[in-house]
Amino acid sequence: MGFFQRLFRKQELLEPADLSVLKVDMHSHLIPGIDDGSPDMETSIMLLRHFEAMGYRKVITTPHIMIDYYKNTSEIINEGLKALRAKARDEGVRLQIDAVAEYYLDEHFDELIEKGDVLTFGDKYVLFELPFMAEPEMLKSTLFKLQMGGYRPILAHPERYLFWHRDLEKLRELSDRDVKLQININSLTGTYSPQVQRTAEWMIDQGIVDFIGSDCHHLGHLQLMQEARKLPYLHKVIRSGKLRNASLD
Ligand SMILES: [Fe+2]
Repeated sequence: MGFFQRLFRKQELLEPADLSVLKVDMHSHLIPGIDDGSPDMETSIMLLRHFEAMGYRKVITTPHIMIDYYKNTSEIINEGLKALRAKARDEGVRLQIDAVAEYYLDEHFDELIEKGDVLTFGDKYVLFELPFMAEPEMLKSTLFKLQMGGYRPILAHPERYLFWHRDLEKLRELSDRDVKLQININSLTGTYSPQVQRTAEWMIDQGIVDFIGSDCHHLGHLQLMQEARKLPYLHKVIRSGKLRNASLD
């Protein structure tokens, strides 16, 4: 049995969903050389061509800002964006390209919020992520700070945080507090873990998924998305009418 067959053995497969209806991917790591995503410009251009071929009109790419590992700043990201746009234009890539950040929730992020140095997209949206193993104590206070500052937080891949797998109501509470929730398309394949897959499916059943994203770090993520397109749950979330990706166009 092949890798994909094992991943998908329990589900009927449908005709691949049309991702062009999403118009915008809002979670990826395509600025070369500044995080654990694309290592160089050539790879970034190749990945952009794949997004274009899948029917996307725009990518809002989101390098990590995580002070211990990826010491990125708004300036570094904007410089990287400028270079990526110039090269993409030269190479005939027609996709629109924007860049913000995927902020790791820690004291450094709090300082950036206090300084007003936060990259936003759409209607003052801010993408942030959490550590995978333990819920940070400062989660509530940071969310409060963000929302009081007029920002609209989007939590990256809530289905991947281990500490909520046995406490799914926490995800609904976040949604009720107007924290937008973004799942990774590939979570539906089971590639991260069966629990991650089940959590993403539960969120879709509950109608609390606001955005779906590629979280593309490399070509493998886009190849796996081709398989994810056949999954009933991807069809279901696209049909839900709740996704806001296209509002970012
Ligand atoms: Fe990411």
